Amino acid sequence: MTFHIGTRPGPKGQTIIDRDAAIMSGSLTPRYPFAIERGEGARVWDVDGNEYVDFAAGIAVTATGHSHPQVVEAIIEQAKKFIHIAGTDYYYDVQVKVAEKLAEIAPFEEPARVFLTNSGTEAVEGAIKVSRWYTDRKHIIAFYGAFHGRTMGALSLTASKVIQRDGFFPLIPGVHHVPYNNPYRCMHSRREEDCRAHCTCADYITDVVFKRIVPADSVAAIILEPLQGEGGYVVPDPRFIQQIRDICDQYGILMVVDEVQSGIGRTGKWWAIEHFGVEPDVVCSAKGLASGMPLGAVIARQGVMSWPPGAHGSTFGGNPVSCAAALATLELVEKGYMQNAIVQGEYIKDALEEMRGHHPTLKHARIDGLGLMVGAELVLDEARTPAKELRNRVEKLAIQNGLLILGAGESTVRFCPALMIDRDTVQEGLERFDKTLTEAEREAGLL
Ligand SMILES: Cc1ncc(COP(=O)(O)O)c(C=O)c1O
Repeated sequence: MTFHIGTRPGPKGQTIIDRDAAIMSGSLTPRYPFAIERGEGARVWDVDGNEYVDFAAGIAVTATGHSHPQVVEAIIEQAKKFIHIAGTDYYYDVQVKVAEKLAEIAPFEEPARVFLTNSGTEAVEGAIKVSRWYTDRKHIIAFYGAFHGRTMGALSLTASKVIQRDGFFPLIPGVHHVPYNNPYRCMHSRREEDCRAHCTCADYITDVVFKRIVPADSVAAIILEPLQGEGGYVVPDPRFIQQIRDICDQYGILMVVDEVQSGIGRTGKWWAIEHFGVEPDVVCSAKGLASGMPLGAVIARQGVMSWPPGAHGSTFGGNPVSCAAALATLELVEKGYMQNAIVQGEYIKDALEEMRGHHPTLKHARIDGLGLMVGAELVLDEARTPAKELRNRVEKLAIQNGLLILGAGESTVRFCPALMIDRDTVQEGLERFDKTLTEAEREAGLL
């Protein structure tokens, strides 16, 4: 395939980018010069006709690929019947069906109850509220590196980048951040092998937080991503997750897992927490749930979600068209895409391991992931100096090479394509990534 270097964006794309810059809120994250015309599966085309492999999937959202015919059909059929009625006030079957399915796949034995939202951040807000309501406690423990969203409650839990919080204080009181298990970059500055042998992050909660900051019996919830997403695609040690569960059990604290990015089959199981053999009390979902239509969910043990009528609601939450898209998505994910995520994810990890040999920034990198949630933390040397600028450059250069790929954390490149991606497209995307990384390393004088 030939690429026209420098023609991305083309004139049509550039016009959209310029108009966007003049009118849209400047708060959006610095974006990449790609203006979409259409998408199909794991490929997209820009308005100037250039084709791209999509390893970003709209930030790990388009689970079934772009405009999957079955999802499109479900959306059209539902839109023809009715688009909105307010699930807070009236009933409709498609909403109940989604809730029933989510309850069926909930990662705990106890029957579940479901609250439907419009987004991930709103699911996290719901989880905060139900946790405080159920426990009648005020404090919440969250983790450094976590991303839970941008609305005030969720933002208070987020500890990913200062820019996301700066200027918005005071955030909600009662949130306490603690280190997350990451042996490659232990926050307690312990050596990787020591951290792997015995992680002290859970001890920090019991020995520091509960002794010096807040009594354990005033903590409503510990919220965590079972696999940290925006923080850099960090897969924790299963023992750490078990320790968090044990602390929750010991002190009557709810374990809330934020599966907004890692859920709905992305890691090869419905929920990433299932890889760790631990049952949470509350689950937050969104992103892949409706293949890109706005829908989120709080799924809780029924005993926990026992708040009274009027305690919580949402005008648009559980929108019928989004619910129809979700039903089609859940069926497709269950019937094969979830299994595909494991196969393609392993292939990507193996390919990245092989690339270590010819890429200096991969040589000592952390290559990690579950299913199609794979990250490569690019580093400059054996001391693991984050290759931050180079990673940022990779995201931009990739556009010129026909690849959409996003960063996470300080210097991680994430591979989170649609769960339906086939081997040929994976292979093509990896070749474009390889080429892009070579160019970035050359520019940086590393090759
Ligand atoms: C783990 C996690 N939680 C919550 C959110 C917020 O979701 P949304 O952007 O839909 O509000 C995100 C978004 O990236 C996320 O990755």
